[in-house]
Amino acid sequence: MPGMARTVITFGTFDVFHVGHLRVIERAAALGDRLVVGVSADALNLRKKGREPVFSERERMAIVAALKPVHEVFLEESLELKRDYIRQYAADVLVMGDDWKGRFDEMGDVCEVVYLPRTPAISTTALIEKISGIA
Ligand code: CTP
Repeated sequence: MPGMARTVITFGTFDVFHVGHLRVIERAAALGDRLVVGVSADALNLRKKGREPVFSERERMAIVAALKPVHEVFLEESLELKRDYIRQYAADVLVMGDDWKGRFDEMGDVCEVVYLPRTPAISTTALIEKISGIA
């Protein structure tokens, strides 16, 4: 429909920002006209992974917000609120990495759900391990 902007939403920690993060954001943005990114809160990461991110939520949000394809960022405080965030930002498409494949199919009643393949051979965890080993 003309004049109807298509909003894409995606979520992630985006800690120790790397090219896999950039690629998923670029590909998500290409699926619509406006990309909104939920950056997961420090407390959420601590609960989920048992450690604090290297960079704080404010720093991670600032980095993601500065990227050209990103129109808006917000703090994702709970994994259970995905449906509310999708509604709040009027998202037409939910994009997740295929490490989450199938896990968000239930959102198909409020938006389109797309899983994108991860960039091979890079992750925040692997980077931290690699850099820790250098010293
Ligand atoms: N991502 C990707 N390719 C990678 C790494 C991440 O496409 N090589 C995507 C994820 O699928 C997700 C987003 O980037 O959609 C944010 O992922 P995040 O969990 O923050 O990054 P990881 O590097 O996977 O972090 P960790 O090692 O801590 O799990």
